[in-house]
Amino acid sequence: MSTQRNGSPLPLDGPVPNHVAIIMDGNGRWACDRDLPRHAGHREGMKAVREAIESALEAGVGILTLFAFSTENWNRPEEEILALMSLLKLYAESEREELMDQGIEVRILGDLSRVDAGTRMAVEEIEAATRGGQAMRLNLMISYSGRAEILKVVRGVAQQVSEGTLRPEEIDDATVEAHLHTRGLPDPDLLIRTSGEFRLSNFMLWQLAYTEIHISGVLWPDFSRREFMAAVEDYQRRERRFGRVPTG
Ligand code: IPE
Ligand code: IPE
Ligand code: MG
Repeated sequence: MSTQRNGSPLPLDGPVPNHVAIIMDGNGRWACDRDLPRHAGHREGMKAVREAIESALEAGVGILTLFAFSTENWNRPEEEILALMSLLKLYAESEREELMDQGIEVRILGDLSRVDAGTRMAVEEIEAATRGGQAMRLNLMISYSGRAEILKVVRGVAQQVSEGTLRPEEIDDATVEAHLHTRGLPDPDLLIRTSGEFRLSNFMLWQLAYTEIHISGVLWPDFSRREFMAAVEDYQRRERRFGRVPTG
């Protein structure tokens, strides 16, 4: 074990995942358990976002990808959608300075054409303000789904083929990856999902092909450094084989 902070050791006895993705789930249940409206759970979940970012920085993670709002979440009641969009705007405005100071480069990935103009402006500002940050890359997945992303790839590739700039037999992994929202980034090494649900819910279907999965039982607003480090420790116990035979 190495560096100590907050009295507990950092789990750095093995490799630290370079890219960690999180499906932040359970805000509604957290609120329901307390007889609060669902939006109170989303608001509380913002604290856990801060905690996850701090923990990832502390552990030495290079890329943190947070699933904040899915394409399917547009089917929720309008009141909840409005609350989530205003929280996103509030987050982008209130955290901008802090993220800049921490050297975190923020990117918002997804179909932002569906997001209201005020929120879109706030997220564009946070992207511009944090551009070039060297400490960590933070992807916030908003209005995102894995299938929608794959459809976007298919359309882009079909366009190139129809224009005659690409032959079908030239299409390979790199062609697809060049059209993904995550182009230029390595795939996640570790996926964490909170609230004890064992499903992907349409998240990063291409990129998660060989990602290690850690399911945490806690609801997202209760997610803390402890759960983050437990997930990293769990990752360090895994043997990644990528279809090959064990090494050594
Ligand atoms: C995750 O919490 C946040 C979003 C999906 C936007 P939920 O709102 O899904 O909370 P549960 O799963 O209903 O408890
Ligand atoms: C996944 O959670 C989406 C996000 C965390 C943004 P959901 O709560 O929307 O997924 P399901 O409905 O439980 O599969
Ligand atoms: Mg949920």
